[in-house]
Amino acid sequence: MNESGLPYEVDPVTLETMGLTRLDGAIERGPFHAHVRVREEPEGKRLVTFGAEVKGVDADVIFYEFDDQGNLWSKTSHVIPSGGLGFYHDMVVTENYYGIIENPTRFDVWKMVTEMTFGKCSLAECISFDRSKSTKVHLIPRPGKAAATKPPCCAEIPACFTFHHINAYEIPGTDKVVFDTVMLPEISFSTNLTNLAPEYYENGKSRSDYRRIVIDLPRQTATVSPPFAGRAIEFPSVAPHVVGSSHRSTYCGASAIVDPDHRAWGPNQAWARIDLDPLAGVDGPIRSNQVKVDAWVAEPNSFVMEPIFVPKSTSSSSPSSSETDGYVVGILHNADTKKAELCVLDAGNMAAGPLCRIRLPHHIPSNLHGSWVPECLPLPTIRGEDDAPVTPGQVHIVNRIRT
Ligand SMILES: [Fe+2]
Repeated sequence: MNESGLPYEVDPVTLETMGLTRLDGAIERGPFHAHVRVREEPEGKRLVTFGAEVKGVDADVIFYEFDDQGNLWSKTSHVIPSGGLGFYHDMVVTENYYGIIENPTRFDVWKMVTEMTFGKCSLAECISFDRSKSTKVHLIPRPGKAAATKPPCCAEIPACFTFHHINAYEIPGTDKVVFDTVMLPEISFSTNLTNLAPEYYENGKSRSDYRRIVIDLPRQTATVSPPFAGRAIEFPSVAPHVVGSSHRSTYCGASAIVDPDHRAWGPNQAWARIDLDPLAGVDGPIRSNQVKVDAWVAEPNSFVMEPIFVPKSTSSSSPSSSETDGYVVGILHNADTKKAELCVLDAGNMAAGPLCRIRLPHHIPSNLHGSWVPECLPLPTIRGEDDAPVTPGQVHIVNRIRT
């Protein structure tokens, strides 16, 4: 999947790429984005995702919902005026709302003509962060829900940039929504390995931090917490059973550096669980006693990717309710050996480090996203060295390439 076209169908047994798909006609036209949320609802699991198409200067965002059999449940179009360059990479879902963030950018036509035309830069490098604009948080009512007839909410916050969101949920008895995300003060699409200077990691401008946005629906206003976790973070995830509902624990890649001033940072060399009181920041500043960070820092020259929480109990009749009663699975890149390791950590004790490290004979491209599939998939017969069948376990990890 990517953000400019249709998704690819992959054979769940062999992982062979089958080709582009319109999901049995659910997708009339692209784009269809890569990030999905699976929320547990009274009717069963609901997979929610979206696609954002540029139409002139506007964005036409289509939200899709599929049931646990893969059938299209609903499709909702929402036009964001002048939001065509909002750079919508991820989304959230709550009981009643879809949530996306419109980033403030502008397109440099002059750069496109004078540089991209001659192969001196990419199309993405013609897009620049525009700090003269505000960032906009959009909440769009889901069809068939209690708030379906309410108007969409658009709340402005100071200019910032977001790629990946953590989770969102409604505060019962209020008109407030918590929207947790990974936020950068600004971004440059021209940053690459040839122009990356030490200042990049020292001035805090591009640092990605856990930030909590609290939206007041009727007033269409929002507050944004300052950074509070000490470590820069990226690639966040939460336990599957709290997606779209109140959560306390977030699993993420994190910088090895801890800076209370939230300026110095570095690449993801640690895995962390950040516990934050679900009501922290709702009616006042986040207090230090409402935050706990449990992290394991990998060896020097090791870099970590997205951590995925795996509940210890995968039975639907007795799902694990704890957000820390499980394992965290992630891939680590060892830059010394240039090979990858699949690591398993105790979600409740991240600082103890991996319980298990499976060293792979090759590298895995950095920054893959992943997901946990609890169902046992029909695996092909695997034969050992003596040609005897090997019984596959119930662990199956599906990685999808996303940006
Ligand atoms: Fe992504």
